Amino acid sequence: MGPTLDKEKILEENRRVHSLENHLYLARHPEQTNFFQNSLVEKTLDQVCAQLNPEAKVLDLGCGTGYLFLRFLKRGFNVTGLDISNEMIEVINNSISENEEHRAHLIVGDVEKYMDKNQDNFDLIIFSAVLHHLFDYEMVLRKTCKSIKPGTKVLIFFEPLKQEINSTMRYAFHRTLSWLDEKSYRLEMGIRKIPLFENEYHHSDYQRQFGGINPKNVEKILREESFSILKLEKYCARRFGISAWLANRVLQTQNTFNIFAIKT
Ligand SMILES: C[S@@+](CC[C@H](N)C(=O)[O-])C[C@H]1O[C@@H](n2cnc3c(N)ncnc32)[C@H](O)[C@@H]1O
Repeated sequence: MGPTLDKEKILEENRRVHSLENHLYLARHPEQTNFFQNSLVEKTLDQVCAQLNPEAKVLDLGCGTGYLFLRFLKRGFNVTGLDISNEMIEVINNSISENEEHRAHLIVGDVEKYMDKNQDNFDLIIFSAVLHHLFDYEMVLRKTCKSIKPGTKVLIFFEPLKQEINSTMRYAFHRTLSWLDEKSYRLEMGIRKIPLFENEYHHSDYQRQFGGINPKNVEKILREESFSILKLEKYCARRFGISAWLANRVLQTQNTFNIFAIKT
């Protein structure tokens, strides 16, 4: 299979898998909403919003069911959300209140194709948990960074990174905590009768087969495209807040990163 075919297959798989999702998407991903992650999201948003003026235009690429889209909308910004999945966009559409509608814009489409045509219009561009779904995330990120005007901010959020745990003892505790976290998660999903589609995500989470995304690559691209890094954080996301707290405060493991940067 040539590279073009591979890329089309990944796009197609993302459309297919995300069409299975619905308003329960975030319920299936408590690692994005538990108390630990929630406090991290709010802290990040406070820092990002402090750099934006009230009329700022925000673009959320791969916006899903509105994880960050809806928070920026609540904070009063003009927000455009783009997603390849019609079904995900439909969920956001049903979550927007009437008094926020005039500031909310939703588009079904592919990140790369959209960024080829739409340049210079936004003050903040968000990639939240979407780079690892792309066939060539480096190319898409570079293209996006090249096309935007100085002063534009980029927030790369909740991307998976490869874990490296050198101590045997720490690794054993990490495995046990991770096992307990996953077991409890499956139990909770079973009790709440929330179906899981994890086996379906094999192709659509394309970059996971390489262990996730290396933040050093992302940093390199940003610096080469004249960005200055305002914040880089690495931490451990877990299904439950208590597991995330233990992983971060006691074991100090890392499987996720966020980067906030500005084009100079
Ligand atoms: C893991 S979800 C993250 C959703 C949301 N940003 C969040 O943080 O909860 C990834 C999203 O990216 C979308 N996606 C995947 N590939 C895409 C592409 N090429 N263009 C636009 N959206 C894409 C998927 O449909 C899905 O909604």
